[in-house]
Amino acid sequence: MREVSGLQAVRGMNDMLPDQTHVWQQLERILHETFTAYGYREIRLPVLERTELFARSIGEETDIVSKEMYTFDDRNGDSLTLRPEGTASCVRAGIQHGLFHNQQQRLWYLGPMFRYERPQRGRYRQFYQAGVEAVGWPGPDIDAELIVLTSRLWRGLGLASPALQINSLGSSACRATYREQLVEYLGKFADHLDRDSVRRLNTNPLRILDSKDERTQEILAGAPSILDTLETDSREHFEGLCGHLDACGIGYQINPRLVRGLDYYNRIVFEWVTDELGAQGTVCAGGRYDGLVEQLGGKPVPAAGFAVGLERLVDLVRDQRRSHPAGPDVYVVSLGEDARRAGLCLGERLRDAGLTVQQHCGEGGLKNQLKRADKSGAEFALLLGDDEIAQNAVTVKPLRVLDGQQNVPVDDVVTALNKLLNR
Ligand code: HAM
Repeated sequence: MREVSGLQAVRGMNDMLPDQTHVWQQLERILHETFTAYGYREIRLPVLERTELFARSIGEETDIVSKEMYTFDDRNGDSLTLRPEGTASCVRAGIQHGLFHNQQQRLWYLGPMFRYERPQRGRYRQFYQAGVEAVGWPGPDIDAELIVLTSRLWRGLGLASPALQINSLGSSACRATYREQLVEYLGKFADHLDRDSVRRLNTNPLRILDSKDERTQEILAGAPSILDTLETDSREHFEGLCGHLDACGIGYQINPRLVRGLDYYNRIVFEWVTDELGAQGTVCAGGRYDGLVEQLGGKPVPAAGFAVGLERLVDLVRDQRRSHPAGPDVYVVSLGEDARRAGLCLGERLRDAGLTVQQHCGEGGLKNQLKRADKSGAEFALLLGDDEIAQNAVTVKPLRVLDGQQNVPVDDVVTALNKLLNR
């Protein structure tokens, strides 16, 4: 038996330590608030599903289903899979519980997903997604809503907006026409394509469009565009979305080579991409999947959605807000017995007002306490000593900027802190 000390987490599956969880909690709160602001309601789904669900929705030929799923037989011999994504489960649950019967649904979920991919920065084997699914609306207005919502999310998180790329995959009929055109074009260059692309010529030719191979990319530059094969309805749908985004002032880039790694999409697909995360720059991705509900046994209902990769989002938030303190709003530094008592009472008063407070406990002079205050990540230290007690005041010392120390009457301290914290 291996020693416990030698045990490590499974490759690609991360522990989230206490000095990281605060960013996650903050992020999850903002996600929740943003989804709620648009009328989306949470749905919680199992992490295990029947393997068949993913094979029938994501597609047998996709990388996810053909080589990335954690699949096993349970003790009953049923083939089960740890969910690689949330859309299939969400649709399965909606059909099972009659959520889509003559009803429209705005749903969201958040949780771990599992894919056996090669781990690297931003790509893990257990990763978290927050997903949003709007089921029951056929028009581009709901597609626009999904994108506008995501844009609000970037603002809520204080992030510079990633770049939005959109495309239309049209109907299955025009995709079939396009596939033929693409295979015919690429067939002429078969000797020069990378090995994966050659294989995909037979299995999933549209995926060749996002090959990273340089030579293949050069060849693709001359390939026909899927947008030229769109039938009237899909073209109008796409133009409708572009019009809504223009009206909302949301910038986007039309990328006719944007195809997704899951087979259930039709018409609109989109990705929010940043160049700040290295190779795994897609923080959010989604699109329309009008055929999926019917494909999984429900009545035909149009639907669209997206999912955000939370590890990538956390990375972005960390990078872009490196100076942001990770700790409480204030750290109470108190010198002497009276000050200690006054500090405890003040701490309670501040918490009543919604501030987060860390109290210095135990021994320590001013220097030592300030050192700990700094280490706690607090934005301000509140200093209480004999002078402050005598004046019924407190010294507010900013810890993240150089100056601005001030003496504030105890009764005004909540207002002063809220102002300093921009609340
Ligand atoms: P997806 O593009 O496979 O779409 O994943 C969505 C997002 O999850 C990606 O853009 C990325 O941020 C994150 N992600 C995917 N794989 C990994 C990984 N191995 N490690 C870390 N992050 C990852 C879907 O899953 C669809 N269900 C999205 C959707 C919802 N479409 C319609 N509704």
